[in-house]
Amino acid sequence: MSQSILHIYPGFEKQGGALAAHLGCDTAGIEIHSFPDGESRVKVRPHSGTALIYASLDNPNEKIVRLLFAAETLRSLGAKRVVLVSPYLCYMRQDKAFEPGQAISQKVIGQLLANSFDRIVCVDPHLHRIASLADVFQDIEADALSAAGLIAQELSRDHGLQRAVLVGPDSESFQWVNTIAKLTGQSTLIAEKVRRGDRDVTIRLQGAEQAKNRPAIIVDDMISSGTTALKCARLLAEAGADRVEVIAVHALSGADDLRHLLASGIARVRSTDSVLNPSNAISLAPLLAEALKKEIQIVSSD
Ligand code: R5P
Repeated sequence: MSQSILHIYPGFEKQGGALAAHLGCDTAGIEIHSFPDGESRVKVRPHSGTALIYASLDNPNEKIVRLLFAAETLRSLGAKRVVLVSPYLCYMRQDKAFEPGQAISQKVIGQLLANSFDRIVCVDPHLHRIASLADVFQDIEADALSAAGLIAQELSRDHGLQRAVLVGPDSESFQWVNTIAKLTGQSTLIAEKVRRGDRDVTIRLQGAEQAKNRPAIIVDDMISSGTTALKCARLLAEAGADRVEVIAVHALSGADDLRHLLASGIARVRSTDSVLNPSNAISLAPLLAEALKKEIQIVSSD
């Protein structure tokens, strides 16, 4: 019998179930009631040992409060250790005040979660100006896993894409593009991006002619509004790419933005299942399970 239980936030039953199957642990749903006034009531299954909570932090505001309720309740009712498994970790992009008076959301979220959890496990957090997740979560364990290997495996299965060029739409995407290309042997191209607003970006793609008469795959850590991928795809189409695809770790886009991407001529959008999205094609369960196996305590039933 396992003493560790994976508590699954509503909506993540598929991903949480896959992870629990890899870990060989029990699961329990986190019950949430929303009151008419917008407040939430949270109910968990109490137990001793380690409580793992599965909840990706897309659309995070309401979810964070509920997760704090769940973590504190599990701990007060006997859990010795509470671990948050959050493949997408929110607010990592706001790592400085870009204008005087802006909140440094990354720092605040880090402190808040560190107060309630013993360990945070996430995948490819958007760390830009800080070196590591340890700078966000001081005094607790924090693991930033990378989906680059799983993305490379997914691309390698597709023989039609062997000649493809992997395209990073901005300088930050270099880390994923470079790691994946080393594994797949595909060539790379990195663009330069200037962002002026949520949906206002300009991309320059020097060397775009490399994509002529070849498939091009835009690789990014996240698709949010989809503007970055859309603008980059246009440049690749103008350069004569014979097919443009997008692959990302986190697909945060809503249905309309995703439809817009596909309607614009992008042949396929794929993502990991870090966030539930119609583009999900890669399960993170094996990667997460490897990192979490030390949390699983088995108690003999004899
Ligand atoms: C930003 O630096 C990220 O790597 C993504 O390129 C960005 O978040 C994508 O956002 P959007 O889809 O809204 O252009």
